[in-house]
Amino acid sequence: MTLVGRKTVIIHQQTTPKQWWQDAVIYQIYPRSFASSRGRIGDLAGISSRLEYVANLGVDAIWLSPFYLSPQKDGGYDVANYRLVDPLFGTNDDAADLIATAHRNNLKIIVDLVPNHTSDQHEWFQAALAGDEVARACYYFRDSADGNPPNDWISIFGGCAWTRVCDRADAPGSPWESDTSWYLHLFDSSQPDLNWDNPEVREEFDNILRFWLNLGVDGFRVDVAHGLAKDPALPNWQYHWDMVAGGSEIPENVPRPPMWNRPEVHEIYRRWRSVLDEYGPDRMLVAEAWVDSEEDLAKYVRSDEMSQAFNFAFLLTPFTAHDLHETISTSLSAMDSVGAPTTWVLSNHDVVRATSRLGLSHTGKGPNGIRSWEEQPDVELGHRRALAAHLLQAALPGSTYIYQGEELSLPEHMDLPDNVREDPAFFRTQGREAGRDGQRVPMPWEADQPAFGFSPNGESWLPQPAQWADIAVDVQADQPHSSLNHFKRMIALRKTLAMGTAQLVDQEPQADYLHYVSQRNDRADIHVFVAFDNPVSLPEDANLLIATCEISDGILPANSAVWFEQDTERVN
Ligand code: BGC
Repeated sequence: MTLVGRKTVIIHQQTTPKQWWQDAVIYQIYPRSFASSRGRIGDLAGISSRLEYVANLGVDAIWLSPFYLSPQKDGGYDVANYRLVDPLFGTNDDAADLIATAHRNNLKIIVDLVPNHTSDQHEWFQAALAGDEVARACYYFRDSADGNPPNDWISIFGGCAWTRVCDRADAPGSPWESDTSWYLHLFDSSQPDLNWDNPEVREEFDNILRFWLNLGVDGFRVDVAHGLAKDPALPNWQYHWDMVAGGSEIPENVPRPPMWNRPEVHEIYRRWRSVLDEYGPDRMLVAEAWVDSEEDLAKYVRSDEMSQAFNFAFLLTPFTAHDLHETISTSLSAMDSVGAPTTWVLSNHDVVRATSRLGLSHTGKGPNGIRSWEEQPDVELGHRRALAAHLLQAALPGSTYIYQGEELSLPEHMDLPDNVREDPAFFRTQGREAGRDGQRVPMPWEADQPAFGFSPNGESWLPQPAQWADIAVDVQADQPHSSLNHFKRMIALRKTLAMGTAQLVDQEPQADYLHYVSQRNDRADIHVFVAFDNPVSLPEDANLLIATCEISDGILPANSAVWFEQDTERVN
């Protein structure tokens, strides 16, 4: 194959990053499931004890899902006290220790901020239940004349988005047992939505940001960033806004949602930007915003708002050359239009793990969890595709997120018994959806230890599949061609070659493969090829740097990817 003469288009210019997060590799830690120093549930001391492993992966930063005081009705995304570590995860001293350990290991640390809702155990909500009008004004409490909910909104997790106070399980015998008012919860009934029109709510969150910034954190991942502002008239709107995919399935003639992605959210982020700026220019905010277009997403990262936003479009894109090509171009152009780095995301604690998702007959977002009687992924195919997708991801300019365990190619746990499930989505859909527990199973560290070394006493809040003995960290560490060692090589190479700040050149799209060229003025061009359903011939002078499988006779097999330099030919 010759590469000379192909039409090429520069789709992103080389950048000179001013801040660490602009081209960082960020590793997501789900604290319940990473490592435990005590038993059953992962904790902060457990994370500290395994940070060297994370640092050795070569990543630049960690993002921790919530570890604050919480009844854990939604894995900690139901916060009862934003300034206190839940005893389940340790103490505030453990948090300070973790921040210091991370910094000693040259890792920046991003913590989760959950501003759309609190837990129903938060002192404000408890005071609201007890009838305190000031506290009630921090939430959406409404009366209804006819005994029906104030409007027809539905919860993301299924069912009605309103609960009547007197219908709560804790109502009988309480002072609020005859309170017939309703409160809004776009998620579980244990997660009442905050009213962001109330200045008290705004002030409180400014101070929560300062509290963690004073402890030394480097940034915040902002949960449900598209949800904070609601149309004060609370008009009816009964459509399903999907977790991660947002409104992409909603017909275009439907009016804009009164609760999602409203322009008023942006004032809040401008305000937070100025709070972060009190601490210097290097503290960051990353938006979790499920919006339907890259243009809308770009609004969250204008220069006076957040630093970056998760690019869920990449995660949702079917594994085809055409679809990925389209998403990569539109993502880069949307973020470049506001001067923000693009992020690349393939997995997190809310979606089926990439290794399993990409082995299904329809790739894209996939179902909400997989059970043993539902369509089972093709294991080999999913594994190959996930490695290829990650190698493509690592080649792209901007910042990259890796969910814990992706480096091991951990699959989804598809045989979890229902009696261990904790995801509210499973309960609120009456089991129609398996939910997200299968992607949150504790990490396997040592093959021959109880609970694969997750905890000292061999307990684990979710059972781990027995087959994980073959892919535990210690097993993979000793295998030169393991997924773990491949990820380490990939991350190291991404850094050495400064792929995150390079110019990206797009070769005219080919029907069944992708070809990008990563260019910098201080090194040779790096070609990135991804093969899909068919093998692809590589140029004769391709000098391979890294590949997701063995390459013989210059043929890149189907569902695999490679980076190479060319000895003799240059792409124009
Ligand atoms: C988090 C979920 C959580 C939801 C409600 C999300 O986007 O990632 O895990 O259930 O917010 O807080």
